[in-house]
Amino acid sequence: MSTGSSDTIAQATDEDAAKTPVTNRKQPFPRGFLDSISTGWAERPESLPAPRAQAPFAAARRAKVSAAFPGKRLVIPAGSLKQRSNDTDYPFRAHSAFAHLTGWASDSEPDSVLVFEPTDAGHDVTLYFRERADRTTTEFYADATVGEFWIGPRPSLAGVAADLDIATDHLHVFQPGDDDVALGDADLDRVVSELRLVKDEYEIAEMRRAVDITAQGFDDIIRALPQAAAHARGERVVEGVFHRRAREDGNGEGYDTIAASGPHACYLHWTRNDGTVVPGDLILVDAGVEADSLYTADITRTLPVNGTFSDVQRRVYETVREAADAAFAAARVGVPFRTVHEAAMSVIAAHVAEWGLLPVTAEEALDADAGGQHRRYMVHGTSHHLGIDVHDCAQARREMYYDGILEPGMVFTIEPGLYFQIDDLTVPEELRGIGVRIEDDVLMTEDGPVNLSAGIPRTADEVEEWIRRVQA
Ligand code: GLY
Ligand code: MN
Ligand code: MN
Repeated sequence: MSTGSSDTIAQATDEDAAKTPVTNRKQPFPRGFLDSISTGWAERPESLPAPRAQAPFAAARRAKVSAAFPGKRLVIPAGSLKQRSNDTDYPFRAHSAFAHLTGWASDSEPDSVLVFEPTDAGHDVTLYFRERADRTTTEFYADATVGEFWIGPRPSLAGVAADLDIATDHLHVFQPGDDDVALGDADLDRVVSELRLVKDEYEIAEMRRAVDITAQGFDDIIRALPQAAAHARGERVVEGVFHRRAREDGNGEGYDTIAASGPHACYLHWTRNDGTVVPGDLILVDAGVEADSLYTADITRTLPVNGTFSDVQRRVYETVREAADAAFAAARVGVPFRTVHEAAMSVIAAHVAEWGLLPVTAEEALDADAGGQHRRYMVHGTSHHLGIDVHDCAQARREMYYDGILEPGMVFTIEPGLYFQIDDLTVPEELRGIGVRIEDDVLMTEDGPVNLSAGIPRTADEVEEWIRRVQA
């Protein structure tokens, strides 16, 4: 697959100059520049790093993929830069399966490809990517996408090989063959997705890291609430404060932050975040930091903007908390994943029935076929797997996911909510415009669920105390 020749030349030439695009905002490079640009640079002696902590875990994952596809050539591309507009691109983010199988995460290179070449014994695995151009090439100084003059140092094949403990080779042009199994193939997608259902030790440590940084981001948000309340687009203040933490201490956010104040909290994925933050309202913040390893947290807290829940807000909040506690109590090794959701829904149905919101009894509402009336107020699921993707393992089969059995090492959310839209005529006026979600990240163990986000206050009393403490 490595065809074509190196672009290396001894000295910049007229041919280089001809290759250099001259545009309406660029001058052609004059002779003096071309004569001198490739000389006068210090040597770059490279000391090879020891393999990174994730390397042996990634190797074990590759071995499982290899075993699932004997005799098949497998192709796992990292993906390419995506154009945002004109000559600007979105920040690059490798495909999750690629990151999982290589251990190459926020520092990975666009257009890399991981290839499993079948052998008698299994597969030879090679990571192909574009070797950095040396300083005698046009690419070095004239290519704004990959030239080191523009984007800074790029990794070498030898450096990445040592760092990830994997064979590397230069990628020229890559064309998957007809018999290759590439991402997008249903079987491969399923295998690499189900491979992530149970997290290894490295992944669990990274999930903890992501949650810990996220916890600090929530402290930052509470500190900034008065500033948010004073701004015409206070929700953006909240988003911005969290973004700063995510970028400073992690790779960024694992998904767009939801900063949903007042009635916006009832729109499940409110990411416009252009509303006001009004004292007396609740603000629902659903935000997660993605660590440099790409593992992400996914946390929601619902905060009283003025620091104190009103009676009705507290009633809704504590109902959601009771549903979350029931979900935690139901989560144990050996039960189906869906049991967790069912436990939360029983609490939600019981309370909305008790408040007179349902045309049927709670029992009738919980009937799998004829029921569901309570779902109007909580339309989403209670739990999803969490990892490199916020909705991790998305291509796993239903029998491995929703109907799958909880195992030690699984990481998932518990996130019940109650949402009474501002114009919902089925609820009394005092409830309209109140939306509450409490979302925690949970590690399943033999001894029961471990709440990775237990350090972030949860109960109504704890939340009020938290706001007092952080704003003091
Ligand atoms: N932030 C999306 C979710 O909670 O699933
Ligand atoms: Mn979630
Ligand atoms: Mn969330």
